[in-house]
Parts: sequence; structure tokens; C-alpha cells
Amino acid sequence: MTTATESTAATAGLRGVVAAQSSIGDVNGEQGILIYQGYDIHDLAEHSTFEEVVFLLWNGRLPKKDELEELQTRIRRNYAAPTEVIALMKQFPKDSEPMDVLRTSVSMLDFYDSQGHGTDREHAVKAAIKLTAQIGTLVAAWERIRNDKEPIAPDQSLGIAENFLYMLRGEQAEADEARMMDVALILHADHELNASTFTTRVIAGTLADVYGAVTGGIAALAGPLHGGANTAVMKMLVEIGDEEAVDAWVDNALAEKRKIMGIGHAVYKTEDPRATWLRKYSKMMGEKKGEMKWFNMSQKIEKAMLDKKGMYPNVDFYSASTYYLMDIPLDQYTPIFAISRISGWTGHILEQYGNNKLIRPRAEYIGERDLKYTPIDER
Ligand code: COA
Repeated sequence: MTTATESTAATAGLRGVVAAQSSIGDVNGEQGILIYQGYDIHDLAEHSTFEEVVFLLWNGRLPKKDELEELQTRIRRNYAAPTEVIALMKQFPKDSEPMDVLRTSVSMLDFYDSQGHGTDREHAVKAAIKLTAQIGTLVAAWERIRNDKEPIAPDQSLGIAENFLYMLRGEQAEADEARMMDVALILHADHELNASTFTTRVIAGTLADVYGAVTGGIAALAGPLHGGANTAVMKMLVEIGDEEAVDAWVDNALAEKRKIMGIGHAVYKTEDPRATWLRKYSKMMGEKKGEMKWFNMSQKIEKAMLDKKGMYPNVDFYSASTYYLMDIPLDQYTPIFAISRISGWTGHILEQYGNNKLIRPRAEYIGERDLKYTPIDER
């Protein structure tokens, strides 16, 4: 790592700086490979379930049948959010951003979890289970509350992805959409030291509790350069409006030095392997709904950006049109990211607690020195 006395110009944004050792996940940006605990993301997306991935991220190995059942039972028993939190959410301004609502309500969960405090593994896992179970409940509840409807009670017979779609849309999801959501959760579960995960590790490194660390992670995820990009992609597609308008729109955006959302990545220099799956799902949803416009527009943008800038789509690019055709409101795409990423955040928090060192880097001071204080009426 660059020392405090060297220039940090080469490490702006800490690009390429190794700030932690971790066995949770690895991103090979040159070859477009993402692994969780040694398993390739394509293998997991093909064969696994989100709950199995949660176990994997927390324990470093795939669960045996009884272990998976036990985790599923513990998660499902905790689906219901505290009634006090739901009651307070009903007082929030109805036009609040869903990510702000999620950040505040997750922070409130802390008050109602008598077991989830402490940085030892037993208590931290208890908090991780509650958060993994309840973030989807909170996201779906807000969708209902802001539309003056009563939240739908979770269904303990359903897995996390399917239960979320049920609570959000008020009806049981068709099997293909439930599986797509489950895979979307697998794909978003972990991504090494991304901005929000790094945030959670910094907070956990102070030995603050899991709820504090996750609240900070949600705040970081909300930004448009991170998880907020999926919502921004769909807004862009709606703004462009038509396939024929894509090329001129992209040229204009590039001429104005505006970023095309969902394109580019701090680590991947080739195709983001998660985009491979979401491209397929965007197409499948387009075919299912007989509305290929969004997929076709996305393909055109993808091609233009590859030709003109040599840049590839990231995870947020095709998730946008996939979720759109699942009738999910635009501003709920980033909260869905959180429903998944809670698994990676808590995996990293557990790892941080397990071998903790306060994270405290240095800044290169570039301000003035030796100034003398001037009384206020002499300035
Ligand atoms: N559209 C157009 N140009 C882009 C771009 C995009 N999406 N992403 C990067 N660039 C350009 C920048 O303008 C910059 O050009 P310059 O050197 O001429 O100034 C150059 O590429 C480097 O960009 P920078 O933002 O410094 O690179 P980064 O490694 O920090 O970028 C992201 C990573 C993700 C922040 C960036 O690609 C981005 O903002 N993408 C859009 C937001 C997004 O989809 N975020 C989700 C990430 S999973």
C-alpha cells in the first residue's frame, strides 16, 4: 500500500489498493471471473439458491441438506419485521426515497433485536439472520405503505426471493420470475471490497454492531455510482424512449461528457459475468411480456459503448429492464440490491470481527501549514 509520505495520485479512489485479506469473494477484472468462496458465479447461478449462497458466504462452504434446512427455517421464522418499525414507517413522508426508508428502518431494527448485539460470532450471526430475513419485508412494506395499502404479511412457506415478490406485488410470482429473482439475488450477493462492503468493514472494524455497519452499507449502496445505477439505467431507457433514438442520445451524452449508467466498472475490463445472466433474463422477460423494446435499446447502447469507448455493461445494466418487466417500480431496484448484498455485507462483517484490526488509513495532507490565527474582525 502507498505510505502517507508517497503521492496518492496513483491511488485515487484507492484503485488497486489491497485493503483487506478475505476468503469471501474474488473479482478477476481482466478475465471477467467472479467467485464466492471458491465457486464460480456461473456455477452458483446455474445450480444454487440464494439461501445456499448465504450459507456459503457466512461459513466458507456449501451447506449439507440439514444445515440448509436449518438456516432456511431460522430465516423464515424471522421474516416478520417488528410491528413497531412498520408502525413508524407509516409516519414517514410518502415521497421518501425507498433507500432512505430502508436505511432508517434497518437502523431501527436494532432496537427490537435483544439477541443481535455484540461482535462475537454467535450474536453477530443472529443479527445477520434477522437482517437477511427482514430487509425484503421492509422494502415490500414501504411499497405498500407509500401507496396507502396495508403491508402484506410474509409467507414462511416461500424462499426469500419468492416471498419478496409476493409481498411486493400482492400475488404469488410465476415460477420463472421467482427463479429469475432468486438468481438475481445470487448474482448481487457479494463483490469483494466494493464501496458499500468496504463501508461495512470500516464500521465493523471499530467494533460497532452489525446493525450500525449494515446501516452504513445501505447509505453507500444508494449512490448512483454504486447500487443506485440500476434505477438510473431504467430512467435513461425511459428518457431515450425509442430504439431509433439510441445512437444520437449516446453520442450526445458522450459529447457532453456524461456517463452512461450501467456501463463501465472499477475492476472489470471485460464483460461483467453477472451481466451475462441478466442480459439473458432481460431478453426472456421481453419475450414473455411481448415487449422487446427495452432489451433492444439496451443492446444498442451496449454495442455503441463497446464500439466508441471499449466499455462493457455491468450488473446494473440489464437488471434494470428485467425488473421493469417484472412490474417492479424503478426506485425499488436498488433496495433489491440490498436484499441480496446483505449476505455479502454480513459475511464480510463476520470476517472482520473474526480477525479485527481498526481500519485507519492516512491522508496525504496538501493544505497549507504554519498559518497564524487572525481575530475575526481583522480578516
Ligand atoms: N459512460 C461514459 N464514460 C465513462 C463511463 C460511462 N459509464 N464510465 C467511465 N467513463 C469514462 C470516464 O468519463 C472517464 O473518462 P476520462 O478519462 O475521459 O475522464 C474514464 O472512463 C474513467 O472513468 P472513471 O469514472 O474514473 O473510472 P472508474 O474506474 O472510477 O469507473 C464507475 C467506475 C463504475 C464509477 C464508472 O464506470 C461509472 O460511473 N459508471 C456508471 C455508473 C454505474 O453503472 N455504476 C455501477 C457500477 S457496478
